[in-house]
Amino acid sequence: MQYGLKILGTGGYVPPLTVSNEEFAAIADTSDEWIRSRTGIGERHFADGESSLDLAAQAAHRAMDDAGAAPEQIGVVVCATATHEYLFPSLACRVAQALGLPEQVLAFDLNAACSGFLFALHTAQCLLGERRDAYALVIGSEVLSRITDFEDRSTCILFGDGAGAVVAGLGDGGPTLFDSGAIGGTQVLSCPSGLTARNPFASVQELPQRPRIHMDGREVFRFAVDSVSASITRTLAQGGLAPGDVDWYVCHQANQRILKAVAKRLDIPLERFFCNIGHRGNTSAASIPLALDELHRSGLLRRGQRVVLSGFGGGLTYGSLYFIW
Ligand code: UT7
Repeated sequence: MQYGLKILGTGGYVPPLTVSNEEFAAIADTSDEWIRSRTGIGERHFADGESSLDLAAQAAHRAMDDAGAAPEQIGVVVCATATHEYLFPSLACRVAQALGLPEQVLAFDLNAACSGFLFALHTAQCLLGERRDAYALVIGSEVLSRITDFEDRSTCILFGDGAGAVVAGLGDGGPTLFDSGAIGGTQVLSCPSGLTARNPFASVQELPQRPRIHMDGREVFRFAVDSVSASITRTLAQGGLAPGDVDWYVCHQANQRILKAVAKRLDIPLERFFCNIGHRGNTSAASIPLALDELHRSGLLRRGQRVVLSGFGGGLTYGSLYFIW
């Protein structure tokens, strides 16, 4: 029997504050027309007092509700994030406590930037192999407005805050296929933490810098189209499948033009690529579960359909995961 991932429920949460492109045009040399035509983004949500725990716990709560899962059924919590307020404790531990999960839960965070949710879901599947009776709560949660450089017009218009979550178990509905990669390097896309390596007794101390995202947009664009297209093809080939066999592609929402370029390269109609970047922006690790939740709640996703999740991001990392909904 081939046990694959079975997603039992999804949840999403974005903070209520919406920021339009016009509001960016008032603080930076940009315009609604430029942002829409180059990225597909019309607005995004920003936290205004909410913590990353607030976002993650709301999304997780909704996913558990949707799955009809009780706290005692959750054995694993993996949270993908790069913007938690604490280096420790982990966000996963705080969510477990907030949701009243059992003490014996295995809870930890994982950081693979925008690929984080994919890697977390794959990790959860591996861990569930040890605990077939349990469910995993997998969360992507980001408050990117904390690490956005609002003086850099080429990046600040891209990002948004939010959290998405799924409750997953193992089922015999079909195989799950996975592919991932990590290239390394800090030149193209990075966010220095602000921690320094200076001896604490040194006479000259570096001033801590607020973490800010640095990105070479054109390079990331090229990398994204190449790596996502190739990773999807490799993932499907493991199961003897072709891109045309898939009903829904739910990819990292970074730029609508990236989705168009991937669809073209795979020769798949763009309609099979779910896109919600217009009202969410790029929410990094939260973007795939937020999009999956929106697709699920729209009623368009039907049980038995074939789904590919695929993403890329800082690392540089990329990955794809195929499963039956
Ligand atoms: O999840 C994290 C991964 N990040 C991404 O996936 C980002 C991938 N890259 C992209 O989405 C695109 O590269 C961007 C949206 C960041 C930029 O779009 P682009 O079409 O690659 O623009 P560009 O960097 O080639 O810049 C074209 C022009 C430049 O002006 P000049 O040199 O031609 O005069 C930029 O200075 O557009 C200018 N520009 C802007 N103009 C108005 C850059 N940002 C803006 C802006 N408003 N916000």
